[in-house]
Amino acid sequence: MTERNLTFAANWKMNHGVAAARAFAQKFLTHTSPVEGRRLWFFPPAVSIGALSEAMKGRPDIWVGAQNVHWEPKGAYTGGISIPMVTEVGARLTLVGHSERRHLFGETDEQVARKTRAALVAGITPLVCVGETLAERDGGRTEQVIVRQIGALLGMLTAGDWRDVVLAYEPVWAIGTGKNATPDDAAQIHELIRMELGRKGVKVKVPILYGGSVNSGNVASLLTRPQLNGVLVGGASLTPEGWAELIDRGSKAKVRPSGGFDMVEG
Ligand code: 13P
Repeated sequence: MTERNLTFAANWKMNHGVAAARAFAQKFLTHTSPVEGRRLWFFPPAVSIGALSEAMKGRPDIWVGAQNVHWEPKGAYTGGISIPMVTEVGARLTLVGHSERRHLFGETDEQVARKTRAALVAGITPLVCVGETLAERDGGRTEQVIVRQIGALLGMLTAGDWRDVVLAYEPVWAIGTGKNATPDDAAQIHELIRMELGRKGVKVKVPILYGGSVNSGNVASLLTRPQLNGVLVGGASLTPEGWAELIDRGSKAKVRPSGGFDMVEG
């Protein structure tokens, strides 16, 4: 049993087609067993959702999701994939608004909010990503950006909808760069998000994962902060052995007795 509920989410991005996903699952299953309070989520490329769901079906602690979906159930959206299509092959989750979607593909706050609402209506869990770029951070605009991104969601969701939402804080400057936020940085932004939700009348405690260069060497120290409910991992989730080790180390993290972050003076 983990000390608290923890989610370990693997975002494979554009890696692992069907054969590779199946081979991954076969090995991964020999390296891990279900642990009470621990959820293991996988976001493979869309073509591998079916095969991975099938391969993991004996493990209720493992859920598979899409990396991106359209908000419409069908229609003339070339290249798009809808929520009914991914659920048909086993998806129970979807990432929404990953920074690569926002920054490389121009996804807007409004589109992110529409996708989130569509996922909720369809009964799958949206894992919605927020986070600032390096320029925004250096310009002292982190809080403003996060509040804007959360604001778009607040505008389209009811207070009750938040019961089924999971958020990920992924600072864009930390993704794939080897630079990760310190445990205190991450804890402070998670706290900020919770305060903002609370200010806007959201009463439920929304789980928030941290993402950005998480690896098996830093996961335990990040998860000492009670503000983090898990991690969302790209590069370090791509091998079954490495991902299982990261999960194992993170699961053993002890929450610091002092709780949150150390306030920096000045
Ligand atoms: P890395 O773990 O490779 O930095 O990627 C993070 C990420 O974008 C997960 O969604």
